[in-house]
Amino acid sequence: MTTAAKLRVLGIETSCDETAAAVVRGDRRVLAEAVFAQLDLHALYGGVVPEIAARAHVRKLDRMIAAVMAEAGLVFADLDGVAVTAGPGLAGGLLVGVTTAQALAGVHRLPLYAVNHLEAHALTARLTHGIDFPYLLLLVSGGHCQLLVVEGIGRHRRLGTTIDDAVGEAFDKVAKMLGLGYPGGPAVESRAREGDPERFVLPRPLLGRPGCHFSFSGLKTAVRHRILELGDDRLDRTVVADLCAAFQEAVCEVLVDRTRRAMALFRARYEVSPVLVVAGGVAANRAIRTVLEELAAAEGFSLVLPPLRLCGDNAVMVAWTGLEHLAAGRPPAAIADVRVRTRWPLDPEAEPAPGGGVKA
Ligand code: KG4
Ligand code: ZN
Repeated sequence: MTTAAKLRVLGIETSCDETAAAVVRGDRRVLAEAVFAQLDLHALYGGVVPEIAARAHVRKLDRMIAAVMAEAGLVFADLDGVAVTAGPGLAGGLLVGVTTAQALAGVHRLPLYAVNHLEAHALTARLTHGIDFPYLLLLVSGGHCQLLVVEGIGRHRRLGTTIDDAVGEAFDKVAKMLGLGYPGGPAVESRAREGDPERFVLPRPLLGRPGCHFSFSGLKTAVRHRILELGDDRLDRTVVADLCAAFQEAVCEVLVDRTRRAMALFRARYEVSPVLVVAGGVAANRAIRTVLEELAAAEGFSLVLPPLRLCGDNAVMVAWTGLEHLAAGRPPAAIADVRVRTRWPLDPEAEPAPGGGVKA
C-alpha cells in the first residue's frame, strides 16, 4: 500500500440529529462506523429540537468513538488525523463534536480537520466509486437543495440552490400536515407507493424557467390548501396516499427539470466524460433515484448514487473528507482556532438566489 492508502482518520458528525463516528482508511476501506439517529427523541415535536439534539450528542459521542476505535482495532496513537464536521448545522450539536475532536487531537497530538458537512456529502462518491473531479452534484437534504460542480478539494461552483425550502424540509412539512410523523421523507415515500399521483393536481415551481434554482414552498402550500379544502374527516388512507404520490411526483419533475439544465451547463464548460452524483438524505428516495437514472441515461451522464446508508448523515463521509484533505497536503486546522459555522456555503462566490434565499 502507498503511504496515502495507509492513512487512518477518525470522523465525527454531530451537525444535526445524527450522532456518528467512523474510522476510514486511505485505500477507501471503512474500518468501523456507527450512527445513532435520534429519531425517537424528536418525533414527539415533529422536528429536530436543537437543545435535545445537543444533549443527546453529549450522552452518546464519547462511547461511540471508543466503540468504533475498538472495532477498528486501533488506539488513538495509530490515527493519522481527526476530522469533525464544523458546519453548517445546529450550533449546539456542532460544538459537541468540535470540542470532542479538539480534545482528542490536542491530547494525542493529531492533525485536526474541520470539515464542511456539505463537502462531506459531496465527496462520498469518491469514497464509494473512486470518481475523478470535476463532477456534477445534486445535493438534496433536509437543509439543502443545490446543484454544484465539484471541481476539486475545497473547490465548488454552485449552479443553483433553493430560493425557499430545502427539498427534504418540504417532505418533512408535508408529512407533518398529513400526520405522518418525523422524519417525513421515508413516510411520504412509502405512502406515495400506494397512491394515485393523478388525482390531485399540484404546481411544479420554476419548471421550465431559466437557471437551475429550486423552489418548494409553493408546492408545500398547495398541499396544505388541498388538505384544507378536503377537511380533516376526508383525510383517509387513500387520500393521504394520493396526496403523497402527487407531491412526490411534482418533486421528481422539478428535480429532473433543474438537473437537466445543470447538465447542459456542465457539458458546455467541462470537457470530461460527464458524471452526476446525487447526495444527501433525500437521495435515499427510490422514486427520485429512478427518475434521475432515466435522466442520466437520456443525457449521456454516468450516475453515481451512494449506498443508502451513506446518503443520510454519517461520519464515514466526514472521515473520508479529512483523508482527502490530508492526502492532498492541505494544512490541518490550528486546534484552538476551530470555530463552528452554522452557515458555511461551499461556493462563497455564488450569487445569492433570487428572492433572497439565504440557505448556505
Ligand atoms: O442529509 P440528511 O440526513 O440531513 C441533512 O439535512 O443534512 O437529510 C435528511 C432529510 C430529511 O428531510 C428527510 O426527510 C429526508 O432527508 N429523507 C427523505 C428520505 N429519507 C430521508 N426524503 C425523501 N424520501 C426519503 N426516502
Ligand atoms: Zn446532511
